[in-house]
This record gives sequence, C-alpha cells and structure tokens, in this order.
Amino acid sequence: MIILGIESSCDETSVGVVEDGRKVLCNVVATSADMHGKYGGIVPEVAAREQVKVIVPVLREALLESRVESRDINAIAVAYGPGLAGSLLVGVETAKALVLAWNKPLLGVNHLVGHLYANWIEEESRVESLESRKIGFPAIGLVVSGGHTDLVLMESHTKIKHLGGTLDDAAGEVFDKVARVLGLGYPGGPEIERAASKLIGVGDAGNVNFPVPMSSDKSFDFSFSGLKTAVVNYVSTHRGVDVSQTAFAFQEAVVKSLVKKTFDAAGKYRVKSVVIGGGVASNGRLREKMELTGKNELVKVFFPIKEYSIDNGSMIASAAFYNANFIELTKMQADPGLYFV
Ligand code: KG4
Ligand code: ZN
Repeated sequence: MIILGIESSCDETSVGVVEDGRKVLCNVVATSADMHGKYGGIVPEVAAREQVKVIVPVLREALLESRVESRDINAIAVAYGPGLAGSLLVGVETAKALVLAWNKPLLGVNHLVGHLYANWIEEESRVESLESRKIGFPAIGLVVSGGHTDLVLMESHTKIKHLGGTLDDAAGEVFDKVARVLGLGYPGGPEIERAASKLIGVGDAGNVNFPVPMSSDKSFDFSFSGLKTAVVNYVSTHRGVDVSQTAFAFQEAVVKSLVKKTFDAAGKYRVKSVVIGGGVASNGRLREKMELTGKNELVKVFFPIKEYSIDNGSMIASAAFYNANFIELTKMQADPGLYFV
C-alpha cells in the first residue's frame, strides 16, 4: 500500500511517499523558516504565500525521487488540522486536486497524531534492530511542538485518548520566546540547546535556577507561561546575564516537566511504550532524560530521527496507513482548530 502524504500546516511544505506506513520512498520538505527569522516568529501570510509557490515543485520532486507514478499510489493523505488556516488550505486543496485528477481515495490526518507516527517510520540508518523498535501498546504519546504540548494514551492505532495538554504556552513557543529574550536566533529551540550544551558536562548552571512548572500537580496538563515570565524577569533584573547558564537552567525546567508528566501517565496506565514527536522532540537533553527514565521504569522510549521530528509529509502518510480516516472529497476542508476527539 503506497500513500502520498501532504503536510502544510505551518511554515513547512512537504510531500512524502510511504509504503505500508513504514518505508519512506521520499520525503521532500521546503521551509520558509528563514523568512520568519527577522520577525522572531511565523508570519502566517508569508508562510501561506510561499506554500502556494512551492507546493507544485515539491510534489513534482517527490514523484521524481520516489520513482512512483500516479498509478502506483493507493491513496492521498493530508494533514487537515490543526494549524494556520491559509497554510492548511494549500495542502488540502492540493490533495483534493490530486484525488480528482488521479481518482484516488482521500485520507484526513490530524497533524498532532502525524507527529507521533514519525516513530513508526523505519530507517535503514537506525542502529537498533527492527524487533527492538517494535512499539507496543498501550503507549503514551507526547506531542511537543511550536504550537502544542499534548499527552495522549494510545490503546491501539485507532484508539487515541487525550489525557492533557498545556494550559497556556506550548513548549516550543517558550523555547522561541526565551531565545529571543537571550538575544539568540529563531527558531529558538536549537539555539537554546546549543547555548545550554556548553554546560551539559558541568551538570548545573551555577546560581541560575528556575522552578519546574506544575511539579506537584496531579493532572496531565502542562503550563509554561510562568516559567517564561520567570526567565524574562531574571534577564531584565540581572546584569551580565550568562546566556549559557540561563539557557541551561530554562531547558532543565522544561525537560523535567515533560519527563515527569509523561512518566506519571506511563505509570498510571502501565504502558509498554512512550512515543514522542514534534519539533521539540529533536532536543538532545529531552531525549537523554526520557531515555534514562524509560530505562529505570522499564518502558521503551521512542523518538523519531531528526528529519521526521520536524513537520513532514511522510509522518502524515504513515499515520494515514495505520489509522485510515477516509473523507469524502466534498466534505474535506481545512480545520485550523482540529484537536483530539
Ligand atoms: O513541530 P514543529 O516543527 O512545528 C510545529 O508544528 O509547531 O515545531 C517547531 C518548534 C519550534 O518552537 C522550535 O523552537 C522547536 O520546535 N524546536 C526545538 C528544537 N528544535 C526545534 N525545541 C527545543 N530543542 C530543539 N533542538
Ligand atoms: Zn508540527
């Protein structure tokens, strides 16, 4: 079964072609991230305008690279929400055009679920054997991106239950904001990680310390705006702020919060696996701490390889394979506010 997946919910435009939900035949990604850098955040109009320009070239390249022809493709999948309205529209309308032209079934994918399915993609470059990469259910899924921080219980591919999410800012959004306050570039996550990595061997950030958000809270919700304010206040009230120390202390607080809630949920539901996805999943410190805790708790922890942590069409095709949500052409529309049901 070959599925062509389209992703355009934010500032990436991507087409992936995936066989049986696991084998990537191509994953073409174009991004307008550079164009948003000077604004310190995504400008929706700029993103959508770029996507209109690049979607057809990206699609053409994907077909060339994967060496598949339209007759080899069994279905078209598209991330129809959540995301930016103008951006989603580009992917959704392109998917509809292909469905009409090629006479294929249309599958709708929740972008957040798509992020988790980046973990099902098999990569020859992975060092682990396929058997050790088998993701057992039940599993806890953690989506950490620029717009979302959500915990879900995956009882099976088709039974996904929302457990909690951020009450205010998303984790990635706070990485971006703190980076800006520290005079680092956009997107902020990799910049914070780079600055903090200077202290990883040292193990602490001197006197700089921020409280771990919601550390004694029993729900599966997150909150990062208080931490963001604490960092902003610290930077504005201290002279000669050490960027690496501040970045390190901030990153530790976010990572601890994510690890705690994820494993609270893993323990409560006695899961076999934890799967993590979204842009923030490429953070090395988060990986290290999640993997360590997983070892201690005897829960397998899965991260996608970096290429599939960011928004991409292959994760959409993979999610569509495992959880086929057929949508009639006339009923398909972009849904910017789509969430977990
Ligand atoms: O999933 P994604 O590519 O787009 C959304 O759907 O939002 O996530 C982008 C977010 C940005 O906020 C970016 O700063 C963050 O992911 N990010 C990171 C890292 N790489 C990207 N955050 C922390 N550490 C990283 N290495
Ligand atoms: Zn995303």
